[in-house]
Amino acid sequence: MRRIAVLTSGGDAPGMNPCVRAVVRKSLYHGLEIVGVRRGFHGLVTGDFMEMKSRTVGDILQRGGTILKSARSDEFKTEEGRAKALLQIRTCEIDAVVGIGGDGTFRGLHLLSQMGLPTVAIPATIDNDIGSTEYAIGFDTACNNVLDAINKIRDTATSHERTYVIEVMGRNSGHIALAAGLAGGAESILIPEIEYDIQQVCTRIIDGARQGKSHSIVIVAEGASGAPPVSSGGTLTEGAAYRVGQQIAHITGFETRIIVLGHIQRGGAPSVRDRILATMFGAKAIDVLLAGEGSAVLGMFQNEVRAISFEEALSMKRPINMDYYELSNILSNL
Ligand code: F6P
Repeated sequence: MRRIAVLTSGGDAPGMNPCVRAVVRKSLYHGLEIVGVRRGFHGLVTGDFMEMKSRTVGDILQRGGTILKSARSDEFKTEEGRAKALLQIRTCEIDAVVGIGGDGTFRGLHLLSQMGLPTVAIPATIDNDIGSTEYAIGFDTACNNVLDAINKIRDTATSHERTYVIEVMGRNSGHIALAAGLAGGAESILIPEIEYDIQQVCTRIIDGARQGKSHSIVIVAEGASGAPPVSSGGTLTEGAAYRVGQQIAHITGFETRIIVLGHIQRGGAPSVRDRILATMFGAKAIDVLLAGEGSAVLGMFQNEVRAISFEEALSMKRPINMDYYELSNILSNL
């Protein structure tokens, strides 16, 4: 092991930069050379490499996003594309690749490892939907971003006695919605994993108003399913929050506003938790490679970073925390 490459791929997540920093500096500490790959797998195919020195990763600890950039690569999904990538890797005398990203990144790295290249996968996605880790880099910061927004929206919601429907990210998973909804005191949390009943959501809002609540907050993950939209003849026409907002306004008759938080959730300085997680993962990736253990997926289990095989990691599912869901329903509706 003499020369290692590091890449970030998939949706950016706050904490990717501290992770790159840890990978680079831990490599240098052990006398290894370290190469950054720009734009994820696309950069592997095109050979878009940069030598990383200690100063290259100076002053990035506090920055969201990724200095290495991220992109989708259709070419890497083809056998020819992967052969090109391997040729670039061999030409640049790279002995191993560390990849930071979500499940798509993991699948790409697994394919590389099957071509005989040692690879280490580090979980980073605000969705926190990777089966092989309790926490992925970026989740904590994203939840704090959502919470910050909920706190601000509450001020206006209370002043104007309105219902707010807040859409958070999570195409296929409700982890952000659940954590931020529980911490933010949402009256209802709608997520892709659980079918919701809009009548029940509205009953809670109406009951709350009867009990003297001055506002209601409904958190909706972008992938939340449910009953077909009810047309209220208004202008609320797109996405999960629009659909739910329309239905609530129509059924309750209460003034209802929607807010789609979008990419605001993915930006900003990484939290303490994400920086530490990222740093631990980055350092462990180099330890794994130096130990000659071959390819591995890193995960956090009960506050400990562990390395497991791709086969095991990719077969694991990450269920939602039903305790969060049930507690939130109890505590916010008394
Ligand atoms: O996977 C992270 C995520 O932020 C999802 O929550 C969201 O559905 C998706 O990425 C958005 O992707 P893009 O930034 O490509 O629009």
